[in-house]
Amino acid sequence: MSRSVPSTAADLEPSCRLYLHSSERMSEVGDDTARLVIASPPYTNRPDGRELDKREYLQFLGRVFIEAQRVLVSGGVLVTINTDLRDHARYNDGQRCFEGRQWDKHTDIRRAVESTGLACIEAKVWVKSLKRNLYRYTFSHIQFFAKHGEIRRPRHPDVADGFGPDVWLLEGGTSRRRPDGSWFRDAIHPGIVERCLLQFTSPNDLVVCPFTGSGTVPAMAKMMSRCCVGYEIDGDLLPLIEASIDGPVRDRVYQPFERRYLNRRAARHECDGR
Ligand SMILES: C[S@@+](CC[C@H](N)C(=O)[O-])C[C@H]1O[C@@H](n2cnc3c(N)ncnc32)[C@H](O)[C@@H]1O
Repeated sequence: MSRSVPSTAADLEPSCRLYLHSSERMSEVGDDTARLVIASPPYTNRPDGRELDKREYLQFLGRVFIEAQRVLVSGGVLVTINTDLRDHARYNDGQRCFEGRQWDKHTDIRRAVESTGLACIEAKVWVKSLKRNLYRYTFSHIQFFAKHGEIRRPRHPDVADGFGPDVWLLEGGTSRRRPDGSWFRDAIHPGIVERCLLQFTSPNDLVVCPFTGSGTVPAMAKMMSRCCVGYEIDGDLLPLIEASIDGPVRDRVYQPFERRYLNRRAARHECDGR
């Protein structure tokens, strides 16, 4: 994985680049260069993750979405993935009327994205588990926003199979073991990234990930021969991101995808060499 600075995205080889600063400014990526942006925002706007000010949080996301809109090509797509949550007075300047209500965060995310000029063209539900969880919803909202364009139709029957259903049951994909043995628990399932890459991109296209986290988006982009630029504010995640992208000890959630993409590629090279 490279951490050098390309002057424009056109300079990129099929490779991954990571920038350890806020995605509120993605100046390393040129205007109208990315085919896809995949954003699974943090739960809060505070680095410690403990507190949340909804107003500040949505303003922060708005700045990231303005950047996402700028870097997308015409017809390019921004995908957002989020889990809704229960509201509290402390998230809303102490206003007690919010206490204990449901916060449809995805509708606020949609509003923030659409204020940049992107249009919502599709929505799916990601079911993370069929087991009940008393503290968190077990499903997330996946929303798709296009820049001046129509959604691109699938070109391959496998794509339609994976992307077509409105509900994506992809279990066991939210935790990654870090190289130091601790856990990162806010990841998205690699199957989501696979489906989005197949649906909206071709090999060598540029994919941007404003919230890299454990590295699911760059890891899948590299496996599937797409270029990727990622942003992450927490430098402590670098060893995990590198392990996700470069292996050899990737989290086991990647195993089916390694079999599908890396082993297939290795077999092709072997045939070419004969
Ligand atoms: C929900 S996680 C992303 C998970 C990721 N999609 C994965 O599969 O692992 C959100 C990430 O955004 C990062 N983050 C928070 N604020 C950021 C900012 N201003 N710029 C870039 N990254 C940020 C957090 O450190 C966290 O790792």
